[in-house]
Amino acid sequence: MSPIPKTAPFAEEEIDLLNRVVGTASPVQRAWLAGFLAGLDASGVAVLPHPAAPGRPAEPLMVLYASESGNSEKLAGDLAKAARKNGLKPTLIDMADLELSALASARRLVVIAATWGEGEPPARAVRAYNELMGEGAPRLDGVDFGVLALGDTAYAEFCAIGRKIDERLAALGAKRIVDRIDCDLDFAEPAARWIGDAVKVLTPPNSGGQVIEVDFGAKPAASPSTEIIEAEIIEHVDLNSSRSDKETIHLALSFEGGAPAYEPGDSLDLYAENDPVYVDELLKIAGLAGDEKLRTDFIRSRDVTTLSLKAVETYAASTGHQYVKALLADRQAKEWIAGRQLIDLIATFPISLDAEKLRALTRPLAPRAYSIASSRREVGDEAHLLISAVRYDSHGRARKGIASNYIAERLKRGQHVRVKLKPNRHFALPAPNKDIIMVGPGTGVAPFRAFVQERRATTATGRSWLFFGDRTFTHDFLYQLDWQDALKDGALTRMDVAFSRDTPEKVYVQHKLWNRRADLIEWLDGGAYFYVCGDAKAMAKDVRAALVRAYADVKSLTPEAAEHAVVTLEREKRYLQDTY
Ligand SMILES: Cc1cc2nc3c(=O)[nH]c(=O)nc-3n(C[C@H](O)[C@H](O)[C@H](O)COP(=O)(O)OP(=O)(O)OC[C@H]3O[C@@H](n4cnc5c(N)ncnc54)[C@H](O)[C@@H]3O)c2cc1C
Ligand SMILES: Cc1cc2nc3c(=O)[nH]c(=O)nc-3n(C[C@H](O)[C@H](O)[C@H](O)COP(=O)(O)O)c2cc1C
Repeated sequence: MSPIPKTAPFAEEEIDLLNRVVGTASPVQRAWLAGFLAGLDASGVAVLPHPAAPGRPAEPLMVLYASESGNSEKLAGDLAKAARKNGLKPTLIDMADLELSALASARRLVVIAATWGEGEPPARAVRAYNELMGEGAPRLDGVDFGVLALGDTAYAEFCAIGRKIDERLAALGAKRIVDRIDCDLDFAEPAARWIGDAVKVLTPPNSGGQVIEVDFGAKPAASPSTEIIEAEIIEHVDLNSSRSDKETIHLALSFEGGAPAYEPGDSLDLYAENDPVYVDELLKIAGLAGDEKLRTDFIRSRDVTTLSLKAVETYAASTGHQYVKALLADRQAKEWIAGRQLIDLIATFPISLDAEKLRALTRPLAPRAYSIASSRREVGDEAHLLISAVRYDSHGRARKGIASNYIAERLKRGQHVRVKLKPNRHFALPAPNKDIIMVGPGTGVAPFRAFVQERRATTATGRSWLFFGDRTFTHDFLYQLDWQDALKDGALTRMDVAFSRDTPEKVYVQHKLWNRRADLIEWLDGGAYFYVCGDAKAMAKDVRAALVRAYADVKSLTPEAAEHAVVTLEREKRYLQDTY
């Protein structure tokens, strides 16, 4: 029988420990121990806290993130920090670097995944995502997991990738111990709450954890400031000719206290305001035209154009509108909202509304990202942006993009705009002696102006080759003079252009890549880095496909081997994308 009863004022583990010592002790040892403890108390000497028992090894936690613009990556870092505080041993893994076999050996797993394109994985995560969804994925029995999905309710496939990963992990035998959360653009608060809860659930009892306090504002000391700051517009120039059907603004910003410490490849988040004309029309249709407080709130800080499924559901619930209810019941709402905005919902299905009900249909107005088109080494305390005005017609109404038209139509030189640095270490220049190939049609060319300026300022020895395209040579050749100067002074080694509307047959950058395939593959074989920026829907996919075909043709490879050559570039981080 054990000498120390279970009722002793010690923890169960300590009772076991004491029993192991006292239970096997000889009568002499027991007598000595009794005397020693009695003497210790009598002497009045405080019992020193005993040296911590050798800590048990921290329980591992794999934190996997699939990110393009850095939000999931940032949250993964926050989660790892909270987990470490709670006694876990987190390992952060970018899905770009994931070896699938590592998943099977993870005991605890958190996945933070964004959705891009139209329900697609972030570009860097595509390979590992496809492997996870494929037949070769390993069984994950014994893995406990939770998924945090990031997305945007403006997209039909809201949080599709997080949802699919969540389903797939369960199908492979992993055990969901934290329910998934699907976050919209205003994810900061719900994500922070989920992270706190998830870390608690994932921490095994008695692992030495403390109360979790996640300081989401904290940044590593060396990171550049990512506060919202005011900038003055010192240049505002339309780079298209007056005869172009496009309007692309070159915006030069200056910063009173110095420009944020941006690097080539980074973006600025720009905080825009809504078009007062649109807001007035919306309020009029809703019967709330005189509400000045709501008007100001709508112009400055609410997303009053996006029409999400959630907004339709809220409208049906708060107004009881029978036709809107029917639209949802017939599962036609998703189709109906395509190409429509909030104003269409109110105009098509009018009903008496108050300010609160209307406001409940909106979400906070999110900033828009713009690639920085300058290098601080060349422009000092300025930052340049290249912004294309988004305008189109749909369902019989003329539509205007919020931020791009705020800049193009309503802001002038001398006015101020609020911006925040959005660093992107995944789209950075390589060492100055490395060759770079840049594919950037339209506004996709913006970061490459920063690259070329930086290479000039650092007298880089690596060669640089730019593929640019737009509609017409005469009216749409963005930064034409800059490229000519760069070709002259050697900051740019080579340039190919594709103007789609100058010839009867449309020519795009991918066609130029194909025409130059022998040189292209030679550069890549010599260690060149390949960058793509701009349209994600078609261009980025077509460019990748052209490169695969170029490998197959130049090196006489099978399609599979050519695909493998591009995957190898991606894994070596020599195929880099920043597409939108
Ligand atoms: C990392 C990153 C870098 C970027 N860099 C740049 C840059 O350098 N320059 C630049 O101009 N943009 C850039 N963008 C895009 C930019 O952030 C904005 O998305 C863009 O300016 C549109 O914003 P907006 O507020 O004007 O339009 P919004 O009000 O957001 O409206 C755009 C929406 O309108 C709809 N829409 C647009 N066209 C049509 C159409 N023809 N038919 C039907 N619906 C349509 C789509 O739903 C689209 O999402 C970048 C984006 C990212 C993520
Ligand atoms: C070009 C583009 C396409 C997007 N497509 C989707 C989508 O299809 N579904 C969705 O839920 N969110 C979509 N989003 C929103 C992103 O998932 C969201 O901005 C997320 O916070 C990005 O996280 P990341 O920074 O980790 O990449 C898209 C965003 C952009 C800019």
